[in-house]
Amino acid sequence: MVGVIATFQGATVMGKGSGYGKVILFGEHFVVHGAPGIVSAIDSTADAEVKKAAKGINVKDERKTAKGYGEEKRLQQIESIERMLKAMGIDSKTGLDIWVGGTLPGFSGLGASAASSVAIARAIGQELGMQMSDEKINQIAYEAEKAYAGNPSGIDNTAATYGGLMWFKKDVAGGPDKIEKLHLRRPIEIVIGSTGKVANTKVMVEGVAERKRKNPAKYDPIFKQAENVAFAGRKALENYDLKKVGELMNENHRLLQEIGVSSKELDMLVDLARKQGAFGAKLTGGGGGGCMTALTPGKDLQGKVLSAIKSLGFEVLSAKIGVEKY
Ligand code: PMV
Repeated sequence: MVGVIATFQGATVMGKGSGYGKVILFGEHFVVHGAPGIVSAIDSTADAEVKKAAKGINVKDERKTAKGYGEEKRLQQIESIERMLKAMGIDSKTGLDIWVGGTLPGFSGLGASAASSVAIARAIGQELGMQMSDEKINQIAYEAEKAYAGNPSGIDNTAATYGGLMWFKKDVAGGPDKIEKLHLRRPIEIVIGSTGKVANTKVMVEGVAERKRKNPAKYDPIFKQAENVAFAGRKALENYDLKKVGELMNENHRLLQEIGVSSKELDMLVDLARKQGAFGAKLTGGGGGGCMTALTPGKDLQGKVLSAIKSLGFEVLSAKIGVEKY
């Protein structure tokens, strides 16, 4: 049985693990249906510690979150851990105390669920003496991610497991996904703004799938355009043509608006970032609330956009994409 406990019984020896947060630069939602996406890990992680317990699976989640995130995600978190244990072949009677924390805030859109699943899988593996490759961890986190996203593409757990900047294409026929590391001439500063609104990724993903099914005449051409934007985005990143990268991010945001996953607050923060000089800005992740990201090369521009968003009372993060060490 999985429950939520109020206090974690700290112990000296325990399993530990981490998973990266991420921003999607191109292709969220479209990736679920087989279009390519580009994702970058950010320098913030979900961390987990796990200790064998007498009985039950007891979770203490101490992450900083947007208001209501814990309540909204609690049942999904429980289901995700159950899925994870099954994927790891762990006897359901095994007792575990699980603590979750780290620098990655629980804001929708930053892959916090996938990062925490990777962290927990690694920590459980270490505590129980299981040797697991990154590939195995990624598979386990993908199973866990189904609890949060219904039909996930796998882009979040892949970024959370491996880190770095990646080209990701799901094989919708069930074969191996295409994952390629991309390399930038230099890392690029970005800003992430949170609307403070918790979004349900599963509902957002299902909504897109439903609208696409009902209206292919509208949706199919948009999906094709999103694919073209991802290819052009890759080329612009590899050429380090940052103006072009920004323009394509703007275009990607427009496509996301068309498929109905943006929101008033996201559009407002995206506009604000562009007015402050960001090269481009778009929602990132599942949308419907959650986060936006802006391309702000150089510390000065990054600081300017960050302050503008912050001055309106929104939570902000500064980050870099394309850093080789994570
Ligand atoms: O909102 P997040 O961080 O869970 O990102 C979801 C990304 C989607 O493309 C909408 C779903 C997926 O599984 O790719």
